[in-house]
Amino acid sequence: MRKKIVAGNWKMNKTLTEAISLIDEIVTGLKDLVKNDDKLVIIAPPFPYLMKAAEMTKGLNQIEIAAQNCHSNEKGAFTGEISAAMILSTGAKFVIIGHSERRNYFKETDDFLAKKVEIALKTGLKPIFCCGELLSERQSGNQFDIVRNQLKNGVFNLSESEFSNVVIAYEPVWAIGTGVNASPEQAQEMHAFIRKIISENYSTQISENTTILYGGSCNAQNAAELFANPDVDGGLIGGASLIAKDFITIVNSY
Ligand code: 13P
Repeated sequence: MRKKIVAGNWKMNKTLTEAISLIDEIVTGLKDLVKNDDKLVIIAPPFPYLMKAAEMTKGLNQIEIAAQNCHSNEKGAFTGEISAAMILSTGAKFVIIGHSERRNYFKETDDFLAKKVEIALKTGLKPIFCCGELLSERQSGNQFDIVRNQLKNGVFNLSESEFSNVVIAYEPVWAIGTGVNASPEQAQEMHAFIRKIISENYSTQISENTTILYGGSCNAQNAAELFANPDVDGGLIGGASLIAKDFITIVNSY
């Protein structure tokens, strides 16, 4: 059975004091969840708070910490960058790779992202690999080709055992931070497509075991109908993950 996951990507938000309060509220609000086995909550705060976040959630099996990015090299002269080993050493277990903000604002290429996935896995971090089309690509009907290529170049060259440690997040760029979420039908259609191509590249068993998250204006109001789709295994939440009450409602929506 694949895991159901709700992950909060805080992006570049919150001071340390605010981060501590938010984690505190989330942990308190989710204390009943920690007894339920098939759900996992992931919190992805900015780098400086990873260690504190890991400390505050230590021993809670249903809550894990993720970084929002890592570098593709193991270590070395890369001023200002953070390695997968550094992230792992804080207690974080996951890393978001290939978010559209990294692809678009920081010009991260498919090759660079594939190297990040490789080093993350080699180090022992589980990648949450993001894919998704631009508005213009959807309008021209190219969304399936775009997503197929992102997955082919980013993760489909992994071995079966490596791939089984990857979570996929479908985040249509036009839905991120816009207040316009993909409809439940659009989300289900793309998630079913992603599962189909995973099955073609690996096997039905692997595809059935892969968690595929939806991200893009997912909030406390629309999460339940998005998560009700058979191929939507939870969400990668931006804005709504910054408000404890909303994030908890989202977690309780599946
Ligand atoms: P929003 O939920 O703010 O649209 O952001 C989605 C996202 O980019 C999560 O990684």
